[in-house]
Amino acid sequence: MSKMIGILTSGGDSPGLNAAIRGIGKALLGRYGMKVIGFRDGFRGMMENRTQLLDSEALSGILTLGGTILGTSRDKPYAMPVAGKTRDMTDVIVGNYRKHHLDALVCLGGGGTQKNAYHLMKQGLNVITLPKTIDNDVAMTDVSFGYDTALGIATEAIDRLHSTAHSHHRILVLELMGNKAGWLALGAGIAGGADVILIPEIPYDVKKVAAAILRRSHSGQGFSIVAMAEGAMSRQVVAKLDEASKKDKGNKKKEKKQQAQEVAAGNKPGNSQYLAQQLEELTGLESRLTILGYLQRGGTPSAGDRLLATRLGTACADLIHNGEFGVMVAARGDGFEAVPLKDVVGRRRTVPLDHYWIESARSVHTCFGD
Ligand code: F6P
Repeated sequence: MSKMIGILTSGGDSPGLNAAIRGIGKALLGRYGMKVIGFRDGFRGMMENRTQLLDSEALSGILTLGGTILGTSRDKPYAMPVAGKTRDMTDVIVGNYRKHHLDALVCLGGGGTQKNAYHLMKQGLNVITLPKTIDNDVAMTDVSFGYDTALGIATEAIDRLHSTAHSHHRILVLELMGNKAGWLALGAGIAGGADVILIPEIPYDVKKVAAAILRRSHSGQGFSIVAMAEGAMSRQVVAKLDEASKKDKGNKKKEKKQQAQEVAAGNKPGNSQYLAQQLEELTGLESRLTILGYLQRGGTPSAGDRLLATRLGTACADLIHNGEFGVMVAARGDGFEAVPLKDVVGRRRTVPLDHYWIESARSVHTCFGD
């Protein structure tokens, strides 16, 4: 009897998911004679037993499609909203794995998905994962698919902002995604030639940012582009959050209240609107904000992401054939590495402060606000 493999996509969608589904599916079907089904909408669909056959017809023509043909959700097996209550649905999910006589489950997703997959692995399922996220923050892999496409879109946005910023002699703040990591703002900021790059890893001083913009202005450059990661924080906000968490050690409720107050005061991490206002006040230059938002995740995957997703997908099929489970198929150089899930979960790949991209940006006079 041929082996049966399940696939699901979970977390925020990312360009390259369909290329990965196609790579895994085609290799499993064609090379190893296995059968493949997809679960709709991540772990929720697996819990509700909503499936879709992934035969060669279903896998054809999807390489260049954005999003995920399987749909996705952020639901967790052990904390799923069901009939108005959050419930642990792990047993139901394990039951559906058995019902379909699965030999393995492939989970495509970011940090949260790796954690959920690890949880199912501990229940005895043969689980294997791929790293997907535009944030590029999955630990233990060189890169995640989705990042390259988002990088291209964010860079094009900076290119386009240049001409309007230049014409109006304005400061243009561009807020980019990335969650708590600065890869997207840093990469696009360098590639697009942003004058200021603000990332969560380097808390900024707004006065230093304003001074850098004024220096440009006095030297005849009447405009400035600020690429800001959504998770970037000013030094004051970092200090306040540190103080609050010290005071309320172990008191999560109070910490959350403090954060809510920060948000209400327009002083939350990544509040780009507040930053744009502050810069206008401090420099006397007109300032405008653009939030690129979901455009960064939508549409056709780049050639780089199609290639990455395909090579990790086919490697995943080979690992399944070899019976290697409980691992994430990480990108390593031009190839791949099977990394145990226990080494991936609970870690975030942020930008190291000694990363050469930061050094390189400083060499071309980019300000980090530090
Ligand atoms: O993790 C990917 C990401 O796009 C982040 O960059 C962003 O913070 C978040 O997802 C947005 O999430 P949602 O899809 O839940 O709005």
